[in-house]
Amino acid sequence: MATLEEKIAQFEEKNRLAELGGGKERVDRQHKAGRITARERINILLDAGSFVEMDKFVTHRATDFNMAENKILGDGVVSGYGKIDGRLVYVFAQDFTVFGGTLSGANADKIVKVMKLAMKMGAPVIGLNDSGGARIQEGVQSLAGYADIFLLNTKASGVIPQISAIMGPCAGGAVYSPAITDFIFMVKNSSYMFVTGPEVIKTVTHEEVTKEELGGAMTHNSTSGVAHFTGENDEQTLMMIRELIGFLPSNNMEDPPRKHCNDCISREEPQLDTIVPPDPNKPYDMKEIIISVVDEHDFFEVQPYYAQNIIIGFARINGYPVGIVANQPEVLAGVLDINSSIKAARFVRFCDAFNIPLITFEDVPGFLPGTAQEFGGIIKHGAKLLFAFSEATVPKITVITRKAYGGAYDVMSSKHIGADVNFAYPTAEIAVMGPEGAVNILYRDKLSDEDRAKAVKEYKNTFASPFKAAELGYIDEIIYPRQTRLKLVQALEMTRNKSEQNPAKKHGNIPL
Ligand code: HXC
Repeated sequence: MATLEEKIAQFEEKNRLAELGGGKERVDRQHKAGRITARERINILLDAGSFVEMDKFVTHRATDFNMAENKILGDGVVSGYGKIDGRLVYVFAQDFTVFGGTLSGANADKIVKVMKLAMKMGAPVIGLNDSGGARIQEGVQSLAGYADIFLLNTKASGVIPQISAIMGPCAGGAVYSPAITDFIFMVKNSSYMFVTGPEVIKTVTHEEVTKEELGGAMTHNSTSGVAHFTGENDEQTLMMIRELIGFLPSNNMEDPPRKHCNDCISREEPQLDTIVPPDPNKPYDMKEIIISVVDEHDFFEVQPYYAQNIIIGFARINGYPVGIVANQPEVLAGVLDINSSIKAARFVRFCDAFNIPLITFEDVPGFLPGTAQEFGGIIKHGAKLLFAFSEATVPKITVITRKAYGGAYDVMSSKHIGADVNFAYPTAEIAVMGPEGAVNILYRDKLSDEDRAKAVKEYKNTFASPFKAAELGYIDEIIYPRQTRLKLVQALEMTRNKSEQNPAKKHGNIPL
């Protein structure tokens, strides 16, 4: 019988082997590729010393292809729980040094265990992806493992925040787990995602494309809109995940965590009084308004490279996290199009699911005209944003800075679709459309130049202001731009205990 010392020695040896992963040579290869290992990533992501590993000695159950003789403790994924800023999170990190981080049945079971615990305990789950995909030697068992994860991703959606970081390869059906999660981070120049890779594309469509062009970090952050954040390297990406977690509640039954606010709540910003140019066709940077009014000028932008005509992101006001949605007059005049509608709609739904109040800054000339937009389905995509704002029951506060034209006025968190507090700057113009367009439709070519100018002036006097809407109570208050921060603090305070429910239903049918 083994002595206690022998048993301890055996235990220590197993621990050593598990921590070795795929061995020094493969770890060196990982480092050489500019990536760090699964364990190194977890150590950076979590508060020092907080990681508790589970299933460290799990091995796969495959026997084909001599796999019975080829087992590595942990089986290619490191999983468990730990803390970020003292708050519980669950984590799994695919270990590329072990069977290329590929998914086996046993390895999927580890991920499923962590996800089920995260749902039961009500804490976020963070997946660090770096994998060759389905483990070829396991065949359908691996596919079953993926499906187990997809199902749980779906059930957990809206219950706990789910965050994915792509830190190496992520190909084939494997992309669909991150795609269901709430936010995807990618690492510049060392991560890629695609459903079919360059070789298959070349065979099928004869297109030649590199992995980076097809599915690299900037492709998904700026072109496809699949990803939300990009880090320069593994370390920076992990730090960004920590920052994001700081804005989020642990689950849908909690409020987001308040941070002590050192910033004066009535801080005035006199430059905002003149930020909106008198010429309605002149652009300005909406981010300047956002950054001026949030706590410590700290705005954590989501999808900063995609559909830049709309801005989305997190900030704090008086210490309370808020989600911000804002038209950006600097890009395409802040128009709503297919991509910006989809981008903002998903963000609004995330905030609503996780009790994060929404602040909307509005300067929108309408929906983008053109066959590309109409054929592309702007009707159903624009409807997504309308649906998302309409169904959101979190506090909704809107500030119209300049244009609020046409259907876009209704869509952008108007009073009519349930906003709680609607502010307008004195420079706001709330109307069916811009003055020139309106006069053209009303009078076609029946007017002399002089009469046309008169009609435009009359239209401007009547509609190109916030006063008509204020008379009707659609705008609660016209505010001095310099006081925006204080007004938002007061509105958030007033709406803090908001309690509103949509009618009971299985789920709505958002126009997908
Ligand atoms: C088993 C795999 C593997 C796989 C990689 N490995 N992919 N083992 N199944 N799918 C192993 C390699 O044999 C190698 O083992 C180690 O992982 C590292 O792989 P390398 O090829 O040496 O690394 P690298 O040159 O960096 O290339 C990485 C790679 C390449 C681009 C990911 O390995 C690759 O193309 N793999 C196949 C990817 C793929 O087609 N997967 C299936 C996608 S479809 P050793 O022992 O030498 O270290 C899919 C379906 C999901 O995943 C379905 C969900 C519904």
